[in-house]
Amino acid sequence: MRRLLPDPDPAALDQAGLDAAYAVPTPPEGACHVRANFVISADGGAEVGGRSGALGGPGDRAVFRTLRWLADVVLVGAQTVRAEDYGPVVVPPPRREQRVGAGLPPVPPIAVVTNSLDLDPGARLFTAEARPLLLTSARAPADRVAALSAVADVVVCGDYRVEPGRALAELAARGLRRVLTEGGPRLFTDLAQAGLLDELCLTLAPLLAGPGRLGIVSGPTPWPAQLPLRLVHALEEDGALFLRYRVGAAG
Ligand SMILES: NC(=O)c1ccc[n+]([C@@H]2O[C@H](COP(=O)([O-])OP(=O)(O)OC[C@H]3O[C@@H](n4cnc5c(N)ncnc54)[C@H](OP(=O)(O)O)[C@@H]3O)[C@@H](O)[C@H]2O)c1
Repeated sequence: MRRLLPDPDPAALDQAGLDAAYAVPTPPEGACHVRANFVISADGGAEVGGRSGALGGPGDRAVFRTLRWLADVVLVGAQTVRAEDYGPVVVPPPRREQRVGAGLPPVPPIAVVTNSLDLDPGARLFTAEARPLLLTSARAPADRVAALSAVADVVVCGDYRVEPGRALAELAARGLRRVLTEGGPRLFTDLAQAGLLDELCLTLAPLLAGPGRLGIVSGPTPWPAQLPLRLVHALEEDGALFLRYRVGAAG
């Protein structure tokens, strides 16, 4: 049973309840709201054998889908796309109608952050009905730009690397302002370090993944001071916790 903690109503939380629990605040004009979503083990591992699939159960998948359905765009790092063989976002017919009624495209596009453009134009990702965006830098190899321009919109967002602020500005300019980032840890760290993160949704899976796992913060980006988080809610299903945090100190 999915329930709110503390539990004001012992009834299970249905899809409408999940939608309400994860409603995205309207971003300020021209700006983005950036929400990150991760699943981790109780000992902080974000992957098992290089993928996150073993960490998530039915409850995590329900939250994962809901967050996608509420987003304008899904932002993801290229290593996660490669490791997880990312496919298109799936939106069932009733949700498509809801999205269109709210002025959104039926399916959110996926935007991939990549310097190398080392992606296969034949990959599942590029079969999406919403044309993917590839956010890259001026250093991207010209032959990769040519190969991938046939299947995606390639957007330069920096001279040497993707500057997170420029990437978000490019998304906002396309009307993609409710941004859901699904990581990975390196991209998440860049966004958090640049002060661009508004929310963190974290599934805490009831298992120990063991030593040597990648956590949700990783990479060469220097970490600033501690980043305070405020808990918005905690849901529970089958022993997994679904924590929604807002970034920033209280009050
Ligand atoms: N538990 C979870 O919820 C969860 C979620 C996501 C991922 N994961 C796991 O995390 C692992 C992958 O994460 P990761 O941290 O290694 O990689 P990542 O953040 O997914 O991707 C890193 C790659 O993204 C590109 N990139 C990131 N920041 C960039 C910038 N500022 N400018 C240009 N390019 C940039 C680069 O791509 P190029 O190399 O193409 O230049 C870089 O190699 C996988 O094992 C995956 O399963 C777990």
